[in-house]
Amino acid sequence: MKYTYSYLLYFFLLMLSSCSDTTYDDIQANEDTNSDLVTYQDVKPIIDNNCLNCHGNPTLNAPMSLTTYDEVKNSVLEGNLIGRISRNDGAEGLMPKGGPRLSQDYIDTIIQWELDALLEN
Ligand code: HEC
Repeated sequence: MKYTYSYLLYFFLLMLSSCSDTTYDDIQANEDTNSDLVTYQDVKPIIDNNCLNCHGNPTLNAPMSLTTYDEVKNSVLEGNLIGRISRNDGAEGLMPKGGPRLSQDYIDTIIQWELDALLEN
């Protein structure tokens, strides 16, 4: 009788310890969901392909370069970058200058980047 009891206790402890393993894995998985945030790495290809023919370094008829993380971040914070890409097709001041307007998907990605705190990575 005494034997059976400690055997059960051993089993119970074993179950407890495997429970705590699972919980740890869950915490790890949750940390990985940070990679769902939009970062500069998602934004850079959009800028590179649509803006650098004028906003490169050196610039071509444009007031500033948009080739680095700091330059693009500054332009969002102080140069109304999101306002300029969100204007209607044909509206004055729309970027890229002369159009066409970026796809709504690209515009939404850049808006989400700002909402996610303009992270670099
Ligand atoms: C064909 C050349 C050209 C392209 C392509 C272009 N721009 Fe521009 N951009 C300009 C010029 C010229 C100005 C200055 C005149 C003005 O403000 O409209 C300017 C001004 C700006 C400004 C305002 C800066 C300020 O401080 O007032 C922002 C923001 C901007 N561009 C962002 C972009 C972004 C983002 C893209 C790509 C999606 C882009 N531009 C593509 C030529 C261009």
